[in-house]
Amino acid sequence: MPCSVPTRFSEHTSPDWVAYFNANCEPITETAWSLEPTLTLAERDRIARSVQIFQRGESGTGSHLMKCALTYAEQSGDEVYPQALQLFIDEENRHADALGRFLDQEEISRLEREWSDSGFRRLRKLAGLEQCVVTLLAAETIAMAYYAALMSATGSPTLAAICRRLLADEVGHLRFQAEQLGRLRQRRNPITLAAARWRDRLILRGAMLLVWRTHRPVFRAAGWDFNWFERNIFAQARVVRSHEQRQIAKLNEVSVDQVSANQVSLNQATTLNEKMPPTVDCSTSRRHFVAESISSHSSRSRPSGIRPTA
Ligand SMILES: [Fe+2]
Ligand SMILES: [Fe+2]
Repeated sequence: MPCSVPTRFSEHTSPDWVAYFNANCEPITETAWSLEPTLTLAERDRIARSVQIFQRGESGTGSHLMKCALTYAEQSGDEVYPQALQLFIDEENRHADALGRFLDQEEISRLEREWSDSGFRRLRKLAGLEQCVVTLLAAETIAMAYYAALMSATGSPTLAAICRRLLADEVGHLRFQAEQLGRLRQRRNPITLAAARWRDRLILRGAMLLVWRTHRPVFRAAGWDFNWFERNIFAQARVVRSHEQRQIAKLNEVSVDQVSANQVSLNQATTLNEKMPPTVDCSTSRRHFVAESISSHSSRSRPSGIRPTA
């Protein structure tokens, strides 16, 4: 059973995250695995390549990220942060292992390299810690939508169990990264903060378009059109931004309204239609989120005219 994400906002220090990640390391239950492939041929055609790419994306040593974290720890005095980040990287590698074991089970090869994954890694190597965290947050935000769609699209109990676990873990990742981003941006003036947020949005949009283009068959199989995909991601991104803002407000001992007042025009730019898909509030328990995610993405409020094909 995955752990609950820490909910006491004021106490989320690096040692809290170390404790959380250390406790959250139970493997996916053995009963989910099968001795035989579980995908139909049609489903295999539709999702194999997509799962291969995500499996590749979840893996990595994070050596550049760790280098940036060590520099940050030295400068900020937050000596435990690299340990928390390393545990986060380990958890992502456990995701890669689970997806890899699934590919083995289905007799689908693992990818050694993939162009979008390589590009993403190269981009991060050019960046400092803040930009790495921003890029990771974009990837995690999109991964939440992807795994929710995949879970709803698949008939494989193994893959559904993996997606459920990954979704639960990603809630913690989003909060961990969002809070760190708030820490890194705590001394920003409103103008540079607004500029940084515009860059965040550009990165998210670029990654979103790329993922839609590459993994469209999975989203289509789940009954998602682009509009639903986009709204889902923007809704999630707003939750992430609110965590970042709360962190900045807490560190600067001002109200969230004071931080967000300078962001009004920025927020308006992303205000979505009244009918939003359910957001993931990272302060709720992850089990609650998963239950909500399952019901919202698999049965209710589907875009009209689109039916699951899986
Ligand atoms: Fe992951
Ligand atoms: Fe993650």
